[in-house]
This record gives sequence, C-alpha cells and structure tokens, in this order.
Amino acid sequence: MSSYLKEKQKNDLIIKESEEFLATTTREIPLVIDRGEGVWIYDVDGNKYLDFTSGIGVNNLGWPSHPEIIRVVEEQVKKLAHAAANDFFNVEQLELAKKLVNIAPGNFKKKVFYGNSGTEAIEAAIKLSRTTGRKYLIAFLGAFHGRTFGSLSLTASKTTQRSQMAPLLSNVIHVPYPNPFRNPWHIDGYEDPKELVNRTIEFIEDYVLKQLAPPEEVAAIFAEPIQGEGGYIVPPKEFYPELRKLVDKYGILLVDDEVQMGMGRTGKMFAVEHYNVAPDIITLAKALGGGIMPIGATIFRADLDFKPGQHSNTFGGNALACAVALKSIDLIEGLLPHVQELEKVFRDELQGIADDVRGIGLAWGIEFVKDLKTKEPDAKTRDKVIEEALKLGLVLLPAGQSAIRLIPPLVISEEDAKEGVERLRKAINNVKK
Ligand SMILES: Cc1ncc(COP(=O)(O)O)c(C=O)c1O
Repeated sequence: MSSYLKEKQKNDLIIKESEEFLATTTREIPLVIDRGEGVWIYDVDGNKYLDFTSGIGVNNLGWPSHPEIIRVVEEQVKKLAHAAANDFFNVEQLELAKKLVNIAPGNFKKKVFYGNSGTEAIEAAIKLSRTTGRKYLIAFLGAFHGRTFGSLSLTASKTTQRSQMAPLLSNVIHVPYPNPFRNPWHIDGYEDPKELVNRTIEFIEDYVLKQLAPPEEVAAIFAEPIQGEGGYIVPPKEFYPELRKLVDKYGILLVDDEVQMGMGRTGKMFAVEHYNVAPDIITLAKALGGGIMPIGATIFRADLDFKPGQHSNTFGGNALACAVALKSIDLIEGLLPHVQELEKVFRDELQGIADDVRGIGLAWGIEFVKDLKTKEPDAKTRDKVIEEALKLGLVLLPAGQSAIRLIPPLVISEEDAKEGVERLRKAINNVKK
C-alpha cells in the first residue's frame, strides 16, 4: 500500500469496537480523530491529515477552535452555561439575538429561536410557517434539511434517509432544483441559467400551485442557497430573486436554510447575500457554535412569532453556546475577505480536476461521471478518490451521488489550500492510473 500514513493499529481497533457499541449512522471514513490543530487533524496513531471537511461545516474556525473561542469558553463556563433560557432570561442569548437580527438580510423586525442543531432550527421554521394557518410546504429534490420527522419530510437527497420512516409529514411537495450540471428536465437549451430558473419557477407556478396545492394554502418554500448534502450544487444567481418574486405573489414564506452554507462558508456571512434577497426565515447551526458548542438558530420575521407555550425546549439559549456563537460571528466577519481571496485560489487550482467543478468562497464540489454526455454518476471513482486521499493525508467527504465536497476551515492559508489540492490531484491520478 503506497501510504503516507504510519500504522493505524489503534485506529482500526477503535473502529471495530465502535461498530459494536455505537448505533449505525453515516460513519464511512475510517478515521479516529484524536485531536486537531488549526486545519490539521491527528488520528489516535499520530498520523497527521489536512482537513477539507471542517467536521461537516462546523469547524470553520479550525480545530479544536480559534484561540479566542477557547478563551470565551474558559471564561463563560465559570460564570454561566445552562440557564434554562426558555423559562428564565440571560444576557448572552439576548446579545446573540441582537447580533443575528442585525446581520441577517432584511430591513424588517426579526426575532430568534434557539435549538441545538440544524434539524431543530428547521423544525422551528416548519412550526412558524404553520402558524400562518397554511398547511402545504414546498421543498426541492436533492435537498437536505435534517433527519427528525418534520425536517426529514423536507429532505430529498437520498432514499436511504427516508427508508422505513414513512408516513412523514403530509402536504410536502418536492420540485426540481435548478442544477446547472444535471439539468432536471433533460432538454437541450434549458442549461442556460436564466432558462433553468424560469423552468423551475414555472414548474412550481404552473403545476404545483395550479394542480396540487392551492397557493393560498402553501405556507412556505424551503430552499438551500447552495445544495450541500445534495452535491454542492450552485444554482444560477437568478434563482433566489425569482423565488422571492414567486412567494411574494402568493404570500408564501421563503425559508432559507443556511445550516451548511452560512457562517462565512461562501465568503459572505449568509450565502443568501450573494442573491441580494431577504428571506422570511433563516436557519443556522453547525459553525455558529464555533466548532465547540452545539447550537441552532431560527431567525424569523417578528410578525410570525409563536404563541406562548407553542414552542420551546430545555437547552436552547444555553449561555455558553450563545457566548461562543457571538464570538464566532465576530471572528468570521473578520475572515470574510480571506475567504473571498481563497475562492480565486480554489477556482484556479481545481480547474479541470474532475468532470465538473463548482463552488463559491470555500464551498466547492467536484463531481465524477461515467460519461460527460449522459452524466451518469460515477460513485465508484468518487469513493476511491476519497479513500486514496485519506492514505495521502487529506480528509474528504462525499456529497450527492458522485461528488466530493471540499470545505476546509475558513482559516486555511493559501499554502495549505494548495497543498490540499495537490494531494487531491495525486489521489485522483492514482485512482485513474
Ligand atoms: C442544509 C442543512 N440543513 C439542515 C441540516 C441538519 O443539521 P443537523 O445535522 O445539525 O441536524 C444539515 C446537516 O447537514 C444541512 O446541511
């Protein structure tokens, strides 16, 4: 085996035992993480890897986190952590809410609900949209919004995620996402970005709102500004503006899921800022917690608020999580120019590396297909590249049917970014040999 790594004895033993004691979930990468340092992670045998996953979009500030976050944790944990924040009040959750409503797009009054994860942020968004009295929800094929029952009803990226789970929430309708690489209508000419968006909007308006769901009964359309789990699919820039026009016409809410693409990943704090559109509800989680704390937030138009007792939880608004999140926002704001600069490096370095390369900021997807004409997904090659990259000391994660997501911590230097792409290129060459 041509491997950059030393022996992985401890690593393999822990994996074997984990399979015995831990529930089967989505673990596929045979790596036992022992510790992290910036953009580098170490396994339990002391092997060192460059991280292009950010712990699935969580460690945007590096591993274990930015030194200033660790300082906030040390100070705050001695003062207040859990504060039963839905039954009492604390300053930390208030300060974070003020910051979030201030930076979230939209010149209107907003409020914030806190949970502990992305799926809970989505559940709150579903419930808020139901408070309008409308019943139907629209989501996109390829979407990932979480795995609890409400969010799973919106998720449509892989059937395994829904396997044996039906019945899910009723009155959820899925529509094609404007995927520029794999045009959902298979009709020549529709690849033109404007046409692709027009067809998407027309499909919703002419089919869904005329034949399936009365528009006055549709509560919300849920969308990802870039589909994450679905394959790092960057839609045309016309997508959200046209979606906004459509929802405005019928009084439907636009829910923008920023759980994976928010927090500076695309070079803006919220990915939706690339479209100049203000959603009615925004969901955040993952990197909001600075790589340390689990936290989710649902930022919403203030007039949509819940009635007393209609929604709440135990851990939401944890003072430690909120103090960390506030500092994370601060640090990410400072990193945005760096992310925008590195976008150019990735754009140049990744050119031609796979059958499709797409991305923005530090959110990149590369895809492998069996044939460029049919675009039949080549999951086998993708999986082998991930496996080979790991041997070369580069950690990658899949996305969609045959793509790899490249999402390093936002603190990555240009030198490390180039080193990572070089390891990726080598892995692809080794697989294709
Ligand atoms: C866009 C999006 N929404 C929601 C979720 C669910 O987040 P969590 O896993 O924290 O429940 C994810 C998770 O990957 C996601 O990418």
